[in-house]
Amino acid sequence: MRIQELLETPIPSADTDDLAQIHSPDARTIGHGQEAQVIKNKSNPNVFKITGIESELKNFGYMQYVLLSRKYSGVNPYFPKVVSIKQTPQGEPGRVAYIVQMEQLDGSGTLTREERIPLAQRLFYGEDLEEILAYEKKGHSVFEYKIEKAVNAGPTRAAKFVKDRQFLQAINLIHLVKKNTGATIDMHDANYMIRRGDQGPQVVLTDPIAN
Ligand SMILES: Nc1ncnc2c1ncn2[C@@H]1O[C@H](COP(=O)(O)OP(=O)(O)O)[C@@H](O)[C@H]1O
Ligand SMILES: [Mg+2]
Repeated sequence: MRIQELLETPIPSADTDDLAQIHSPDARTIGHGQEAQVIKNKSNPNVFKITGIESELKNFGYMQYVLLSRKYSGVNPYFPKVVSIKQTPQGEPGRVAYIVQMEQLDGSGTLTREERIPLAQRLFYGEDLEEILAYEKKGHSVFEYKIEKAVNAGPTRAAKFVKDRQFLQAINLIHLVKKNTGATIDMHDANYMIRRGDQGPQVVLTDPIAN
């Protein structure tokens, strides 16, 4: 996979419709992190994530992850479904903010114990799974910690305890972006979310990379 090709794809400017949706009285902020603001307009099933400002994509780990997500979310459910990526001028000439329209997801805290156990069985094997199940029996969760551990470990070490191949593929691409940009991995319970659908709950790695 050549990330270079993704970076060469031009990012269009936000049009008046995008900006109108974001600034409309029907829009409200539903999420906030270190870098971004997430806005939901009632008339749109998706959300807009407005990221921190960075001029050069080649150094912007998070945006590279978004470009990869747009490319791979159709074949790998761990990536958020990205509908559009736009840019809008900010402050000094040449500086832009990115506006990413993506599917709306549920917070990881909405996972119930009944959902976490089968999810853990699908994701992990070996000691990690045993540990998760033992904790769950006592009413505690180490599920989040294991997701964080797997993403931090990188594809080779994670392969020893991660069973789900698509999870491993996502981990692999996250580490590729890390290597490419010098960004850091930033996995915790606010940086993965849940997609609920016919196949049951799916872990989605929404914000695994910090610059
Ligand atoms: N696709 C989404 N759907 C709904 N809420 C979201 C979505 N993406 C992010 N959020 C909310 O916004 C918060 C900040 O987004 P995040 O992607 O973690 O950006 P940051 O880089 O600012 O940490 C998240 O913790 C979450 O509560
Ligand atoms: Mg975050």
